[in-house]
Amino acid sequence: MTNRNLINQYLKQTQDIYGDKLYFNFKKDPKYSKVAGYSLDEFHNSIKNCQACQLGATRKSFVFGVGDKNADLLLVGEAPGEKEDMEGIPFVGRAGRLLDKILSAISLSRDSGVYICNVIKCRPPKNRDPLPSEIEKCEPYLKEQINLIKPKLIVALGRVAAKTLLNNDLSLKEMRSVKHNYYGIPLVATYHPAALLRNQNLKPAAWDDFKWIRNLIS
Ligand code: URA
Repeated sequence: MTNRNLINQYLKQTQDIYGDKLYFNFKKDPKYSKVAGYSLDEFHNSIKNCQACQLGATRKSFVFGVGDKNADLLLVGEAPGEKEDMEGIPFVGRAGRLLDKILSAISLSRDSGVYICNVIKCRPPKNRDPLPSEIEKCEPYLKEQINLIKPKLIVALGRVAAKTLLNNDLSLKEMRSVKHNYYGIPLVATYHPAALLRNQNLKPAAWDDFKWIRNLIS
């Protein structure tokens, strides 16, 4: 493709996501984001009424993300469940409470140094798996969150998040315990907290993962 075609393609994709405003994001430092770029909150505001897929019609909340906007650690789950849909905040149900306990055990919390979001921002009815078409529409939002937060490490919670971010069709077992590379940012995959609630036997391995995660961001 020629440079001109590449630029056209990029502008078209940007227009699909943000409309007719052209945004620039030069630096992570918040003092620059006011002048030169736009903030995570501004991005959130620009997409919160999204109707790009059918989930827009059934959701109660657009669950954008929560936590430290300058986080070193970004945790990515699958999709909001019922409680998250009601409250508009990711990981607030049983799985979320377990996630908070795990974070606290490695001296982290969602308020400090950690940001939490999902691959898709709206609840699939009856918590069914997100459809590939829904993931395809929503993934650019996740990419832009990563671009704005610029974490030191991304952790994919569960297979859906891992295979979306790594663009493969591997099992979680194959993706675990490997330091992957997401456009220059280290990425590791571990069990989804809901899987740990279903199967206690996975907890020791998950604990190993989180101790490793703690080391990777130290
Ligand atoms: N499971 C997820 O993947 N995300 C949430 O926000 C809640 C449960």
